[in-house]
Amino acid sequence: MALFRITGGRPLHGSVAASGSKNAALPMMAASILADGPVRLQGVPRLADVETLSLVLRDLGMEVGWTPDDALSLETVDATPIRARYDLVRRMRASFCVLGPLLARRGRAVVSLPGGCNIGHRPVDLHLKGLAAMGARLRLRHGYIVGRARRLIGTRIELSGRHGPTVTGTANVLSAAVLARGTTTIIGAAMEPEIVDLGNMLNAMGGRISGLGTATIRIAGVQRLNGTIYRVIPDRIEAATLLAAAAITRGSATVTGVVPDHLAVVLDMFRRAGFQLEVGDDWVSITANGPPRPVSITAAPYPGAASDLQAQWTALMSLARGRSTVRDRVFANRFLHVAELNRLGAQIQRRRSTAVVTGVRSLAGAAVTASDLRASAALVLAGLAARGRTTVRCVHHLDRGYEGLDHKLTRLGGQIERIGDGEQWLASSPLRG
Ligand code: EPZ
Repeated sequence: MALFRITGGRPLHGSVAASGSKNAALPMMAASILADGPVRLQGVPRLADVETLSLVLRDLGMEVGWTPDDALSLETVDATPIRARYDLVRRMRASFCVLGPLLARRGRAVVSLPGGCNIGHRPVDLHLKGLAAMGARLRLRHGYIVGRARRLIGTRIELSGRHGPTVTGTANVLSAAVLARGTTTIIGAAMEPEIVDLGNMLNAMGGRISGLGTATIRIAGVQRLNGTIYRVIPDRIEAATLLAAAAITRGSATVTGVVPDHLAVVLDMFRRAGFQLEVGDDWVSITANGPPRPVSITAAPYPGAASDLQAQWTALMSLARGRSTVRDRVFANRFLHVAELNRLGAQIQRRRSTAVVTGVRSLAGAAVTASDLRASAALVLAGLAARGRTTVRCVHHLDRGYEGLDHKLTRLGGQIERIGDGEQWLASSPLRG
């Protein structure tokens, strides 16, 4: 099991480029099932999650591989397989996004339910509600959703749940609706930039989608979709994580290749915390002039503060001059990082869906264990700021969603050493190229 050995206490300085968005690329890869030709996605990050979904798609009769110019090429060569198996969907729950495209394009699907997750209860009832509303016959058989749909029929769908919109649920229903007969209106749709990017790709393939980025998306069904070449948007969560690394170490950094609009809320958070920011067309610079001011946030659906950043923000606030709260309205139990941060000397109390953070003057290195993707990032940030040595175990969680984060942070001056089997998924990848 790989681990990071971090020697903290050094301010980060320099410039680093953001990778493509994991959460845009994954639903786009699933949606390539819909195409009557090859889909080439540019800017897809080389991540374990991308590998896992590539294996699911290969099981589903698709050729998936990296082109010489570093694009991910996806093409159906056999449209008969319809099964997304448990051991893969369990490993990467966004694989569930193949359900809608399979029903729309092949009329049948056998997709494993994703199973449990460390960040909380993550049902898929809204995905199923939306697809059933379009006429899909779905039933649960031995842990798999078995679905049939002669042809999906466009309809009006209320897709929001008690925790708000569903991102991958919107992706599943949106992808299916593009080939439905008639028009589908999704009310309470997710407004995340990753959904806008998926819709833009589907439109580039011949889809007729409007309202992307709003809570009401309208899809006029078409008969077929062509292949396309499409560039994935930059990863706003990775970009914010890199900015937070400079902030927590009292350094300065520029993150290039970003869409500043996608970062508006988090840049405002950094400003309120007293960090200096400069924003260009496709880059953002941050400079720290001391410890942050305490800034309380509530993670909420886009355009609110991203749930995927609340752990990293909690780490930053652990060194603030005062008390702040970090609440998560999306995943009420996404706080496994709190106990580990406290091992580094943070003073954080968990109160139901809120972390109450009392800032301390400094953190001290210790051994900590990552539990999920964004908790891992929070621990790495804290380790970079802590005096002395921090060992972060189970960094395979990090490799799922950050492309070479240790290399990027090292380039900014961080002292991070990967011990044990490296990015082993990379070495064994069948998609070498
Ligand atoms: C997406 O997960 C992201 N993953 C998550 O990022 C992100 O944290 C989350 O959206 C929220 O922004 C991808 O895009 C691949 P949801 P998703 O469906 O789609 C409830 C990361 O770190 N819900 O928007 O699975 C659900 O329990 C990952 O990159 C239902 O009740 O999240 C949650 O409380 C982690 N029924 C809320 O809605 C459903 O059918 C939002 O979940 C679906 C969701």
